[in-house]
Amino acid sequence: MRFLFRPPADEAAGLLVLPWDQPLEEWDDEHLLEVPQRGISRHVVRFVTSDGTVYALKEIDERLARHEYALLTDFEEEGLPTVSVLGICVDRPDDLPAILVTRYLEYSMSYRYLFSSRRADHSAERLIDTLVELLVRLHLAGIFWGDCSLSNTLFRPDAGSVSAYLVDAETVERHVRLSPGQRSYDVELATERVAAELMDLETGGLLPDDIDPIEMATCLPDRYAALWEEVTREEVIKPEEQRYRIAERLQRLNELGFDVEEVELISIPDGGVKLRIKTRVAETGQHRREFFRLTGLEVGEQQARRLLNDLRSFRAYLEQRAGRTVPETVAGHRWVTEVYQPIIDAVPVDLIGRLAPAEMFHEILEHRWFLSEKAGRDVGTTAAARSYFETVLPRTPKEMTTPSATVGLL
Ligand SMILES: Nc1ncnc2c1ncn2[C@@H]1O[C@H](COP(=O)(O)OP(=O)(O)O)[C@@H](O)[C@H]1O
Ligand SMILES: [Mg+2]
Repeated sequence: MRFLFRPPADEAAGLLVLPWDQPLEEWDDEHLLEVPQRGISRHVVRFVTSDGTVYALKEIDERLARHEYALLTDFEEEGLPTVSVLGICVDRPDDLPAILVTRYLEYSMSYRYLFSSRRADHSAERLIDTLVELLVRLHLAGIFWGDCSLSNTLFRPDAGSVSAYLVDAETVERHVRLSPGQRSYDVELATERVAAELMDLETGGLLPDDIDPIEMATCLPDRYAALWEEVTREEVIKPEEQRYRIAERLQRLNELGFDVEEVELISIPDGGVKLRIKTRVAETGQHRREFFRLTGLEVGEQQARRLLNDLRSFRAYLEQRAGRTVPETVAGHRWVTEVYQPIIDAVPVDLIGRLAPAEMFHEILEHRWFLSEKAGRDVGTTAAARSYFETVLPRTPKEMTTPSATVGLL
């Protein structure tokens, strides 16, 4: 038996005690974690925990395992939204297939849960758009997915929106650049799979009545085409409108979830300027990076946007009280210790892990706004948090709890 994994080595060492010489299907429950609401899958996939981390194990042909391992490693280095891979186990006895080990994507949810839960902010259309955004991002990076589907995507709440991550890279082909034919074939495959998955949900009574699976799936190609056009389109602009038009375009791309890597301006004979934009394929990051710099916390892009606002208003409050400017890094540090952390630490034990801390903080800010509107005055974050823990958080379904919380690892 051989293990191939990426450093740090001590992380993998904890996993060595598992019964790798047995078929994954036959592993004892004592090693396994029950994870609810998964998508449709071809292989045996099981979840285990070791040293505070939850891992997904997939038993799969060695050639495919090596392919997926290599690809996921590259994707992560490039900052693409995918699950993070630890390694593979090969040369198992009795010709058993290989096992691919990935880190469980904490606080992620499957489409089965999202579609059926009907949280107002996760409408079916928004989920399709999120999937389309992921596909466009991968295509920009020259990645042909070959099996884009809701089952092969994980969703994570991000301050009222959701972000999508690729989970299954088995069929992926990497190219320098994709041809329009390759892209449209990938979109066609995605549409078929999404239609099948939605029909499956409908059969199981999990789809809201007003959603027609076929209609929902067939809007995918149009949405894809519109986003691709918006992101990659070249336009000719008049020199006098240059600055304004470029700013407008960049703002629009940011709103769509893309960061811009380079802006290219090419003079054309009639005096106009051709604008070409190269988008960054990595996950969006403007606000995340800024928030990380100020607080050392890693959160989603929309969460960062929201929490930065709270941090800024806290800074203004500190400055007003002190009668002088407070450096933003100082304000960031104080915001974490005096505002954010005390709230996170106050979560009742039985509700820990229902939502990612930053998502919960975002919901508490919403709740504070809601309570303050009702009361006609600002009720403050502490009171809002108390009320949120009593009335809102317990209603967040247990299925959303991340598995490491269920085994007391958080
Ligand atoms: N790292 C991970 N984090 C969270 N869920 C995962 C992870 N890996 C796999 N899963 C879950 O297991 C399911 C099956 O995994 P996948 O790689 O798609 O296998 P298959 O080849 O059998 O389709 C996924 O749909 C997802 O719900
Ligand atoms: Mg899959």
